[in-house]
Amino acid sequence: MAAKPDFKTCLITMTKKILITGGAGFIGSHVVRRFVNHYPGYKIINLDLLTYAGNLENLKDIERKPNYEFIKGDIADSGFVHSLIAEHQPDAIIHLAAESHVDRSILNPLSFVYTNIVGTVNLLNASLKRLESSPDFLFYHISTDEVYGSLGKDGFFTEVTRYDPRSPYSSSKASSDHLVRAYFHTYQLPVVISNCSNNYGPNQFPEKLIPLSLNNMLHEKPVPVYGKGENVRDWLYVEDHAAAIDLVFHRGKAGETYNIGGHNEWHNIDLVKLLSKIMDKKLGKPAGFHERLITYVKDRAGHDLRYAIDASKIKNELGWLPSLQFEEGLEKTVDWYLENRDWLSRVTSGEYANYYQTQYHTR
Ligand code: NAD
Ligand code: TYD
Repeated sequence: MAAKPDFKTCLITMTKKILITGGAGFIGSHVVRRFVNHYPGYKIINLDLLTYAGNLENLKDIERKPNYEFIKGDIADSGFVHSLIAEHQPDAIIHLAAESHVDRSILNPLSFVYTNIVGTVNLLNASLKRLESSPDFLFYHISTDEVYGSLGKDGFFTEVTRYDPRSPYSSSKASSDHLVRAYFHTYQLPVVISNCSNNYGPNQFPEKLIPLSLNNMLHEKPVPVYGKGENVRDWLYVEDHAAAIDLVFHRGKAGETYNIGGHNEWHNIDLVKLLSKIMDKKLGKPAGFHERLITYVKDRAGHDLRYAIDASKIKNELGWLPSLQFEEGLEKTVDWYLENRDWLSRVTSGEYANYYQTQYHTR
């Protein structure tokens, strides 16, 4: 590995402008909010295409802050990305923009290649150009634990686990991770990567397990559980992920990878049953009211059995630990979705359905 610049000092004293991609999405909106509020001296530029998953409503509370700016654009458009970086001259990029849903990647892999691979390379190339005049530049790539493949009943993913992606989504993210590392080794672009487990919390589009289940329970519709519901995911509250990203951005070492996870494994079926109980309580329904909606459906193609992160590196080196217990995080999440039913119906409305038909599939 090439020499590692000391980002701890250079970023805290010098970083002025940070370009965050995908800031209108689920995790990105929490990261943007955190950086805008915690670092008033930084200028945060949020670059997002506003696909079905991106929603500026997620950032209503900070949109008028003087250190925040939104720009709509496509990271897969090389000319656009180059002129944006040349015009705004960011000191760092935190890259979250992605197509993020496994089921969609099974239906339409190419859109994952455009955004997750081509889009990342466009940002890397523009970053190299920026490095010429900004030697302390940092490219921070946000990735997933799904690049490591599927675990059996035991063991954990560490930072040295061999990559073994199995879905088009995880393959596109693995490819982008490799390209980010290649730019570090080949061109000495200062980079850092973090790979996180499944996130949950406010603002998550209701296609992922937790918000989809909540949305269906609210409408008393069947709650689909793939296969036998035996698959295991390691869940982390989204604000704990945003706190980890803040820490890695400021204190992580260039060229390094940090795994982030909740040490919080749940079989899907147990998780959906727990959600049902919380919903019974919150909506004043008799015990078992929501659980009866659980419906076993055909399994996802190539469904990874188990993900689980060993997060000891980020704990030992940077002092990060999740702050929320799962039950507490789930209650907060359920409360948010119950208080934001308008948001739920807007993001799943005809407008979204039309956009999905006309733009998403045809690019
Ligand atoms: P999301 O789907 O909620 O948001 C993605 C955002 O990217 C949206 O705002 C969308 O409009 C934007 N976007 C998509 N294509 C774009 C393009 N071509 N140009 C510009 N913007 C575009 O995703 P998320 O769940 O918030 O995930 C964010 C990142 O974190 C992704 O890179 C994902 O791989 C990673 N990640 C997610 C999880 C998880 O559990 N959700 C876990 C680990 C890592
Ligand atoms: P998901 O939220 O799509 O995240 P990922 O596949 O990236 O881990 O799915 C989480 C788990 O829940 C996964 O094992 C698939 C399963 N699942 C269901 O059983 N039913 C559903 O409707 C969805 C969306 C997911």
